[in-house]
Amino acid sequence: MKLLFFLYLCLLSIRVESLRLIAIGHRQSIDASVTYETWFNQFNRTDLYELKSYEPTILVFGELTGFTAAFIGTRGQHARTQSGTIQDALLSLMQSYEKQMTSYLIKYPNISMINALELSLSDVMWRSFNQTFSSLSRSLNATIVSATIGPRLMRSTDLKDIEFYGDPDLYPNQTEVYLPLTKEIYNTAHVYAPNGSLIASRDKSHLTPAEIELLQLVPGKLEDNRVIEPNSLCIAICIDAFYSNVLSYLDSQNCTILIQPSFNAQMWAANISASSTIWQPSDWTYGPLGLFKQTQNIQFSINTMVTGNLFRDMIVDGQSTINQRLSKENQSQNKTSDLYIGLDWIDVQDIDQFQTLVMSKWARDDPRNRNLTKSERRQLLHQYAQELAPDSKSPNENKYADTVIWTDVII
Ligand SMILES: *[C@@H]1O[C@H](CO)[C@@H](O)[C@H](O)[C@H]1NC(C)=O
Ligand SMILES: *[C@@H]1O[C@H](CO)[C@@H](O)[C@H](O)[C@H]1NC(C)=O
Ligand SMILES: *[C@@H]1O[C@H](CO)[C@@H](O)[C@H](O)[C@H]1NC(C)=O
Ligand SMILES: *[C@@H]1O[C@H](CO)[C@@H](O)[C@H](O)[C@H]1NC(C)=O
Ligand SMILES: *[C@@H]1O[C@H](CO)[C@@H](O)[C@H](O)[C@H]1NC(C)=O
Ligand SMILES: *[C@@H]1O[C@H](CO)[C@@H](O)[C@H](O)[C@H]1NC(C)=O
Ligand SMILES: *[C@@H]1O[C@H](CO)[C@@H](O)[C@H](O)[C@H]1NC(C)=O
Ligand SMILES: *[C@@H]1O[C@H](CO)[C@@H](O)[C@H](O)[C@H]1NC(C)=O
Ligand SMILES: *[C@@H]1O[C@H](CO)[C@@H](O)[C@H](O)[C@H]1NC(C)=O
Ligand SMILES: *[C@@H]1O[C@H](CO)[C@@H](O)[C@H](O)[C@H]1NC(C)=O
Ligand SMILES: *[C@@H]1O[C@H](CO)[C@@H](O)[C@H](O)[C@H]1NC(C)=O
Repeated sequence: MKLLFFLYLCLLSIRVESLRLIAIGHRQSIDASVTYETWFNQFNRTDLYELKSYEPTILVFGELTGFTAAFIGTRGQHARTQSGTIQDALLSLMQSYEKQMTSYLIKYPNISMINALELSLSDVMWRSFNQTFSSLSRSLNATIVSATIGPRLMRSTDLKDIEFYGDPDLYPNQTEVYLPLTKEIYNTAHVYAPNGSLIASRDKSHLTPAEIELLQLVPGKLEDNRVIEPNSLCIAICIDAFYSNVLSYLDSQNCTILIQPSFNAQMWAANISASSTIWQPSDWTYGPLGLFKQTQNIQFSINTMVTGNLFRDMIVDGQSTINQRLSKENQSQNKTSDLYIGLDWIDVQDIDQFQTLVMSKWARDDPRNRNLTKSERRQLLHQYAQELAPDSKSPNENKYADTVIWTDVII
């Protein structure tokens, strides 16, 4: 009797839950930003409906997924169609948003032009982002994580606000307008429950030089980056997952699944810079794979990487992965499809304690079976990356992979 009771208690205390994890390596395109509808449609992918499950599902998009929403509509038309750089595109938007920018430059006298533009874009960017991911989480019955930049917001139904800060394309049907509460612009990941409610938002705390200099973002406070229930999710946006202060803070809260929406704004098949000899994918192993060695509680990592050229000078690329903690003894090192391009198992020797469950393909295969040296393989891959780049004039220009990877896990 006692034994039975004990067994009963044991069984009760084992909480086993199966989850479906999905990472979308979405290939971004400015062509999808014509209207709110076309912007939504690019994310309403049929391949996601094929993965609908009765298991709770977590679906992750990349970092800055909402960025292209800045170019939606008539006000973004010239910026979308000009053939210059990202700076040129932002300058063109400044002309369309001049009156709103002026009002913010008066309200916040010391802000930069770029911040004034970002504040002016609050309505179009949040409207499209929130509608898209709120609606998708409902129709896919999934928890969705997606990221964008923007200030803290309020909703106004004041007709004067709508007229001044709203979207002329929606006139006279716009019933509310999203306005900034303060002047700070953050890089934020938002979490939507399967019923479409926004349940959490987490800011990036370590910013890149481009985020500081070009976009003039403000870092989030690490102490606000709390674990999210259910399933003890936590978020480390892109390079945040490389920082031990972020990892140890999330680990100390018993995070189980670390979600890393990423946006690698440089060639994937290249050294990390012209003056460096470090292969970009080698460097990335220290993030989504290496984090297990630095933590104790995190069991899974999901890294989603946006791909696609934007304007004449922005290259975004990388391979998405879903990984789990696993001891070195139990690592199986025989699937080369689980390795980033240009790497061999020997290159991840130091990064033990992980197992890649699934990894997205790159734009072309790594020619591993052609008896080439690693350096020759990398050279071939790098040549292909140059064909993918903007203005390459190659038929392969912008033919980055556009991927969905998934796996079912027990937690
Ligand atoms: C989203 O895509 C699904 C599947 O293709 C389709 O049935 C649905 O109508 C689309 N939703 C909208 C709002 O277009
Ligand atoms: C939605 O997902 C839950 C699991 O999270 C499942 O129990 C439920 O049946 C699903 N609902 C529909 C309508 O598919
Ligand atoms: C703007 O900057 C000036 C000088 O840098 C400073 O004196 C002033 O307090 C600032 N004003 C605001 C509103 O931050
Ligand atoms: C997001 O969009 C949904 C659906 O349109 C709406 O109900 C909700 O109020 C919006 N949430 C925010 C925070 O704007
Ligand atoms: C405004 O709503 C009306 C009625 O639904 C519709 O016919 C019209 O096309 C809408 N206008 C815009 C600009 O969306
Ligand atoms: C939607 O789901 C969230 C998380 O499960 C819950 O907190 C919230 O109350 C729900 N909202 C509605 C309107 O049912
Ligand atoms: C994390 O888990 C450990 C062991 O189960 C527990 O002692 C600790 O209180 C938990 N910490 C938090 C912040 O939940
Ligand atoms: C990258 O670095 C390697 C040395 O590790 C060097 O041989 C190679 O030429 C470099 N590649 C590029 C494209 O600069
Ligand atoms: C390796 O896997 C075996 C079988 O699943 C398990 O018994 C063992 O504890 C694992 N080793 C480590 C170090 O986790
Ligand atoms: C892969 O490696 C694991 C452990 O290292 C081994 O058990 C398994 O048989 C190998 N599979 C193949 C297909 O070689
Ligand atoms: C592969 O390359 C090595 C070194 O260049 C050479 O010794 C070996 O014969 C080659 N093997 C085959 C199958 O071509």
